[in-house]
Amino acid sequence: MSLEKSKIEKSPAESQAEVIVRMFPTDANPAGNVFGGEILKHIDMVAGIVAQRHSQLNAVTVSMDSVNFIKPVFVGNVLKLTARINYVHNSSMEIEVRVEAEDIVTGIKTITGTAFVTFVALDKNGKPIHVPRLSLKTDEDRKKFAEGKIRMEKRLKNRKKSD
Ligand SMILES: CC(C)(COP(=O)(O)OP(=O)(O)OC[C@H]1O[C@@H](n2cnc3c(N)ncnc32)[C@H](O)[C@@H]1OP(=O)(O)O)[C@@H](O)C(=O)NCCC(=O)NCCS
Repeated sequence: MSLEKSKIEKSPAESQAEVIVRMFPTDANPAGNVFGGEILKHIDMVAGIVAQRHSQLNAVTVSMDSVNFIKPVFVGNVLKLTARINYVHNSSMEIEVRVEAEDIVTGIKTITGTAFVTFVALDKNGKPIHVPRLSLKTDEDRKKFAEGKIRMEKRLKNRKKSD
């Protein structure tokens, strides 16, 4: 690790992010609904905003898991992606993303997907670097941190190294 453990603390509320995006025909799969890969791109993007807001460093995606496409997303829907940081270790951060689709004609909003994305902050030499610790302000923050820690331990157990 490039630097000593961060003495800075930030709350999850300080980095949370929301992105709104309209789905176009170019986002569709051959069946006419929105392509899952297009939604994954937006999940990665909103999670990346949270990771960089929290760390204020370059941060890269190292894993995406528990990706659930619960309901289909249709061309014309307005997608709202909300993301928050649940857990940090040294350089790694678990970000939770929820995807909601709105039919803007009927006003009906549906949760269509959820995912966990892990980012790692890197220094100027591309080496992992400590990020600010999480200051847990609410019961929800504490619950999500404890659950995130368990998930991260499982993730690392299943982690595959290329060498
Ligand atoms: C990020 C990267 C430099 C880390 O290298 P590494 O050899 O795995 O480094 P380390 O083993 O020291 O791990 C660094 C941190 O990443 C975490 N990590 C690595 N792989 C992980 C995975 N699959 N899931 C969760 N965390 C992971 C480690 O637990 C460690 O966290 P900590 O510092 O909080 O304890 C390397 O994995 C990489 O370059 N990956 C490609 C990233 C990328 O290009 N993403 C897509 C484009 S943004």
